[in-house]
Amino acid sequence: MEQELNSLRDTALNELSAIDNKEALNDLKIKYLGKKGLLTGMLRGLGALTPEERPRIGQVVNEIRNEIEDIIASKLGAMKQAELSRKLASETIDVTLPGRLAELGHLHPLTLTLNRIKDTFMRLGFEIAEGPEVEKDYYNFEALNLPQDHPARDMQDSFYITKEFLLRTHTSPVQVRTLQSAEPNQPIRIIAPGKVYRRDYDATHSPMFQQVEGLVVDKNISFADLKGTLELFLKETFGNRVNVRFRPSFFPFTEPSAEVDISCVMCDGKGCRVCSGTGWLEILGSGMVHPRVLEMSSFDPEQVSGFAFGMGVERIAMLTYGIDDLRLFFDNDMRFLRQF
Ligand code: DAH
Repeated sequence: MEQELNSLRDTALNELSAIDNKEALNDLKIKYLGKKGLLTGMLRGLGALTPEERPRIGQVVNEIRNEIEDIIASKLGAMKQAELSRKLASETIDVTLPGRLAELGHLHPLTLTLNRIKDTFMRLGFEIAEGPEVEKDYYNFEALNLPQDHPARDMQDSFYITKEFLLRTHTSPVQVRTLQSAEPNQPIRIIAPGKVYRRDYDATHSPMFQQVEGLVVDKNISFADLKGTLELFLKETFGNRVNVRFRPSFFPFTEPSAEVDISCVMCDGKGCRVCSGTGWLEILGSGMVHPRVLEMSSFDPEQVSGFAFGMGVERIAMLTYGIDDLRLFFDNDMRFLRQF
């Protein structure tokens, strides 16, 4: 029996040394070590041996079994290693490829414009005031000296929510709110930026747009203060070259009132399509706060006076950047927005 075992071992090792793939290894494992395998068959023969021989031969069978298993395991290991090396050589990853960058956005041109406006006025000591976009008729019109049925209300076609509430048509109601929340006759120096709404829609009008209101109230405020402040602001915004002109106008909440123009930034005042050949661009409305407006909000026009102004942010951005269609600001077309 020992003889037989030894020759079985030799054949198995011989066969093993010739094997170079996993399938053949598995087949060999079944052939010798499987349930019906050759070596397993030898174990069954142990019964025919004497009790003295049995343990010794049994041990030999186990040794052969372990030997074959070890060789199979090391061969398998070597094959796996070879396979891995092959993969590493063929499936290269280029770690020098640049990663995917997260796209960085930037501020919208209207926000940039508004920030510059705020900046200029804050350096002049103005504070920022705000008011609601859904506003009371009282603040939007009534307390600004625009009573019910006043014809000037027609200038601003409005979105009414109820008889009493509407979407504010300008930022001027913040003037009234500021006056009424201040101590009477105390100095005020504010700008009020914000969205306003009108029933308008074309290349230069949108139903929603932004304004910046200004209000200064103190003892001895004169038209010279209004002029100096706005001239400084406009030169700061459009450059020192621009000329500024004040034209008599009418607003119910100011007396006297003035429309403020700058020399056309496109043609330097020569006359072009943008300024309709006039050489001037209308840029904001202004005036001395009407005594009735002060009075209605408990300020005494005998003791204090003030000036006010209002401008459109979109209009200033269009002139700054040379944009001829206001709707571009609201289309969210990245090709447009990336340019700022
Ligand atoms: N609220 C006016 C408008 O939207 C603009 C305006 C004009 C504001 C004169 C003022 C002002 O404060 O004094 O048309």
